[in-house]
Amino acid sequence: MSNKMWGGRFETAPDAIMEEINASIGFDYRFASQDIRGSRAHVAMLAKTGIISTSDAEAIDSGLEEIGREIEAGSFTFSRALEDIHMNVESRLTDLKGANAGRLHTARSRNDQVALDFRLWVRDAIDQLDGQLKELQTILAHRALEFAGAVMPGFTHLQSAQPVTLGHHLLAYVEMMARDRSRFADARRRLNECPLGAAALAGTSFPIDREMTAKALGFDRPTANSLDSVSDRDFVLETLSAAAICAVHLSRFAEEFVLWTTPQFGFVRLSDKFTTGSSIMPQKRNPDAAELVRGKSGRIIGALNGLMIVMKGLPLAYSKDMQEDKEGTFDSLHSLSLCLAAMAGMVRDFVPDLDRMRAAAGSGYSIATDLADWLVRALSLPFRQAHHVTGTLVRIASERQIGLEELSLSDMQGVEPRITAEVFSVLGVESSVASRTSYGGTAPVNVRRQAKRWIAQLQSTT
Ligand code: ARG
Repeated sequence: MSNKMWGGRFETAPDAIMEEINASIGFDYRFASQDIRGSRAHVAMLAKTGIISTSDAEAIDSGLEEIGREIEAGSFTFSRALEDIHMNVESRLTDLKGANAGRLHTARSRNDQVALDFRLWVRDAIDQLDGQLKELQTILAHRALEFAGAVMPGFTHLQSAQPVTLGHHLLAYVEMMARDRSRFADARRRLNECPLGAAALAGTSFPIDREMTAKALGFDRPTANSLDSVSDRDFVLETLSAAAICAVHLSRFAEEFVLWTTPQFGFVRLSDKFTTGSSIMPQKRNPDAAELVRGKSGRIIGALNGLMIVMKGLPLAYSKDMQEDKEGTFDSLHSLSLCLAAMAGMVRDFVPDLDRMRAAAGSGYSIATDLADWLVRALSLPFRQAHHVTGTLVRIASERQIGLEELSLSDMQGVEPRITAEVFSVLGVESSVASRTSYGGTAPVNVRRQAKRWIAQLQSTT
């Protein structure tokens, strides 16, 4: 008995375990539409160049179209014995159109076919993620405008540092997401070359037109080296890397929601839609969605790491190890998409407790820098000396467990005699943030301007 896929060279069918370890149809069925699209472009090119007859090409094309419909309708039967999506489609094509269907695979190999399908799939996934990132940026920018003047504590080392505004904080993530989008766009630009026609590894002796298929499939150009075309997975690594960095941003943001929603912080209330209760503790409102966004960064980073390790020892050109490139990628990009959707939901309807945020903004001597800056401006003290004077005043206030603004003028003059009552005008959180008008600073005027700039920019670009 010969093998049903490899024919004459083989005498027996594969072992059941061989079939199990070898098959990729369980996950690469997701390439169905890309596979059919690629094959249709290939067959049109084979006809145009005279490599196969127009009538064979037409029969193959209509068969592929029909298979596409069957898959979409859910009536297609995928077979594990046929290994992967490429063989499944081809086998069905033979059922439908007879032996001439076998002409489709002229001047082509599954090696360039899978490289093509994966590029097409990743390209679509990037476009979808970009749309989601843009959506999240838009929601963030609107909420930033809403809270441009809402004072909250800014932290370094998670210790109260200086007051900032909630709007400013939210816009920080808009900036991060702009860089995420630009990393994805960059990966997309580099991946947009067509590997079809590289065949198994060495190119082909048939007079194919690679420009034609590249153009038909929306690529900028064909890839230039056939060995590289079938062995390169940089386009996946770059995309997974962009995904991992984006997931890290979302994870940090999610962590802030987790902190902010604790009763101890009490800065934010997430809506019921993104919160769960406890089956034993009736008082609990757990930020599960935020925790899961934070947690899913693990598998997203893991997918990048996993594929780096798969690739690092592979000699040119294709090795079957590379079949391991898919599941992690599907999981990573799907998880990221879910995280973006969950974050968008949380950001859209979280309710900040502005009074608590404002009160916390003033605690921990967060306006000490404003006092030091005033000493520099009003008394021309060198900053280091102003820092020292302010430090002494913070110590006195903290010994008495009062705020800096609660010290009397004579308390202050006891440390630096030239201090005047004017100093009290800078000792509030509102005046503190309002004064930070340097470019990129937290002043509400800046935040309003930046939020509006983002909203306009996001509206006007695709
Ligand atoms: N299922 C394979 C993969 O995903 C397709 C390419 C197979 N090529 C080969 N020479 N066996 O990598």
